[in-house]
Amino acid sequence: MKLWGGRFSKQAAKLLDEFNASLPFDKELFVEDIEGSIAHSAMLAKQGIISDEEARKIKDGLLEIKKEIENNEFKWDISDEDIHMAIEKRLIELIGDTGKKLHTARSRNDQVALDFRRWVLKRNLEFSEKIKKLIEVFVNIAKENINTLLPGMTHLQHAQPISFAYHMLAYASMFKRDYERFIDSFERNNINPLGCAALAGTPHNIDRFQTTKSLGFKTPSINCLDTVSDRDFALEILFNISMLMMHASRLAEEMILWSTSEFSYITLSDEYSTGSSIMPQKKNPDVPELIRGKTGRAYGNLMALLTVMKGLPLAYNKDTQEDKEGVFDSVKNALISIEILKETLKTMRINKANMLKACKKGHLTATDLADYLVKKGIPFREAHHITGKAVALAENKGIDLSELSLDELRSIDERIGDDLDLSLENSMKSRKSYGATAPERVKEQIEFFEEFLKEKND
Ligand code: ARG
Repeated sequence: MKLWGGRFSKQAAKLLDEFNASLPFDKELFVEDIEGSIAHSAMLAKQGIISDEEARKIKDGLLEIKKEIENNEFKWDISDEDIHMAIEKRLIELIGDTGKKLHTARSRNDQVALDFRRWVLKRNLEFSEKIKKLIEVFVNIAKENINTLLPGMTHLQHAQPISFAYHMLAYASMFKRDYERFIDSFERNNINPLGCAALAGTPHNIDRFQTTKSLGFKTPSINCLDTVSDRDFALEILFNISMLMMHASRLAEEMILWSTSEFSYITLSDEYSTGSSIMPQKKNPDVPELIRGKTGRAYGNLMALLTVMKGLPLAYNKDTQEDKEGVFDSVKNALISIEILKETLKTMRINKANMLKACKKGHLTATDLADYLVKKGIPFREAHHITGKAVALAENKGIDLSELSLDELRSIDERIGDDLDLSLENSMKSRKSYGATAPERVKEQIEFFEEFLKEKND
């Protein structure tokens, strides 16, 4: 007989059990479910709704069940429907009629809202920790590469010389925003649903502030009708993960390009590369490719839950049971992606000579020549034109603009003086505006991220 079977005269069909059950996946919530029930029964006792002795028996029984699950001794039965009823049924088996009092002043609607919310809140913190470690890797690579030149690109075309440190710190900036998003979501959703019961609250004299305190929430939710059907916390983590994976995927794309023979900017370590089953010479960037690929399902999980939620009238509807699998999937895949991304970055070789060689293709210092001429009082449009001629000369000679001699440059415009330095290094160093690529600016950025990490680690 089901725990809710009182009004039914026929057993549920087996097909219904299979279709209806969330147990195969919501097992994942057993810790949160047991902790929530212990907090709930302690509150019921404090309020005189059950006796202290009953609360103690319930707690002992629940802790016993926790051990059974952890030791793989728990008998899962799909006809129990979900983790909440599986645990409650086992509690009644273990401690008898006292177990039947646990569900006083509670519904599975606030129970699942509590369990899932707490599970998601913990994951928000887990992500924020992982992201800090990743940012640390960007900072460490940056420190070693303040003067490592590579072609900065726009439209995937060589544009201006920048440092590899500067490039890495662009990613540190993105992932810092991700860190902040997970923390923001944690703060906003740190609200206790327990005691909302089915939808309207309860006539029992419960104390929601007590369970708020014992479960470590900031405050009880203000409106129960909203709380039992609110899945914003789940949508937020799905969005946070989507954004995080989008950032990881952009980097992954660059790592894939950089490890081609055409670029050869980096060499992925053997530990984090894979081979081909037919071509013995191959070393493949499966790690960044999988990260890029997994980004797709992260977006899919977000879209799926947004779509589930969009037509739901208040309050709880069974549709929301569809909230969990996508979140579990996104969390699992993103956590491992960020971890392996960090290790792959830490162990990759940076081929500075190839980056420098690439800088000599595409006349990266053309803007520098135009800027120089402007400083000599020549209007920008004219400077642009003169520079175009210099580029044409370099092209004719089959060399890079940065390799033209001063005499050759002066043959184009005699206003060019001895003070012109079109070297790649000078170009990078001269970009000193705030937030730019010059070494002193990059050092500021490194300090900024180090300060951020120090503050967040304290
Ligand atoms: N397994 C359900 C879920 O995940 C738990 C809540 C069920 N509530 C109900 N009234 N049927 O959403």
